[in-house]
Amino acid sequence: MPAPFSTAASLYDRVRRVIPPIEWPAFTDDIEAILALKRERNAVILAHNYQTPEIFHCVADIVGDSLALARKAMTVDADVMVLAGVHFMAETAKLLNPGKTVLIPDLGAGCSLADSITPSDVRLMRQRYPGVPVVTYVNTSAAVKAESDICCTSGNALAIVESLGAPRVIMLPDEYLAKNIAAQTKVEIIAWKGHCEVHERFSPADIGELRAAHPGVTVLAHPECPPEVVAAADFAGSTAAMSDYVARHRPARVVLMTECSMSDNVAVEHPDVDFVRPCNLCPHMKRITLANIRTALEQNSHVVTIDPHVAERARRAVERMLAV
Ligand code: 13P
Ligand code: SF4
Repeated sequence: MPAPFSTAASLYDRVRRVIPPIEWPAFTDDIEAILALKRERNAVILAHNYQTPEIFHCVADIVGDSLALARKAMTVDADVMVLAGVHFMAETAKLLNPGKTVLIPDLGAGCSLADSITPSDVRLMRQRYPGVPVVTYVNTSAAVKAESDICCTSGNALAIVESLGAPRVIMLPDEYLAKNIAAQTKVEIIAWKGHCEVHERFSPADIGELRAAHPGVTVLAHPECPPEVVAAADFAGSTAAMSDYVARHRPARVVLMTECSMSDNVAVEHPDVDFVRPCNLCPHMKRITLANIRTALEQNSHVVTIDPHVAERARRAVERMLAV
């Protein structure tokens, strides 16, 4: 994270392994402006692990997976939080720290999982399976969270499902996350048909080809990948868990079956690890840029608001998750 008065030039050292020198001058003006605007507005930037390295390593104050961003958003003291991530993350920050101004630099930064389910779908599931608790992935709108008993992230899904003490749970909306959790628990899981458009594209054949081309490579997969991909990987976990795995095991060569910027961001911290890079871009995460973060701070755009009736019920589901 940048020191309060660091300049763009001194930040380059941090990212020189992943940003070529020829590209760096295109970023410096926005970085300087954002660092100044943060001081002026008493603002902090929260960046998800899938943000590009010039955002993640050069202007962000708080970084992490969905769970870490939610936890840290709750205790932010600054007046303004800019969410360098997607819309559901900004909504979660607003739910957990409602007195703050939360900005999302591009309102189009959505998520295929969040788009796969509506509040009335959740009500229909409850009618179909009376009395079965509903666990909702944080990758959903606040309105869907409001219909749920409890939320989860990829980092805590197993613990959340087992915390309920129920023989069956409805787990929405990611079919693959639900199936990957079902493989680890005796609790019966009823799934939905949502998919992450980034992770659903990986296949076991990709892993076979990678292992053939890079003998000895360690394969890490995100649990939003299809179960056959998770089964063929050496380890599956949230973006934070993948990052921790690399830090703990220091594999000589590793591939992260996830969004492209993740490898860049982890590689910055581990010059001794060789990252093999087949990856898929998330078009929603990539809508966030230095330029629109700067505009967000200059123009106070776009302010995240949540209907108070929805917010009260959605907050309950997120807070219940954080208490587990
Ligand atoms: P985590 O960072 O919680 O693993 O989530 C991945 C993701 O797809 C967020 O959009
Ligand atoms: Fe949604 Fe997948 Fe993009 Fe994450 S990576 S924001 S789950 S589409």
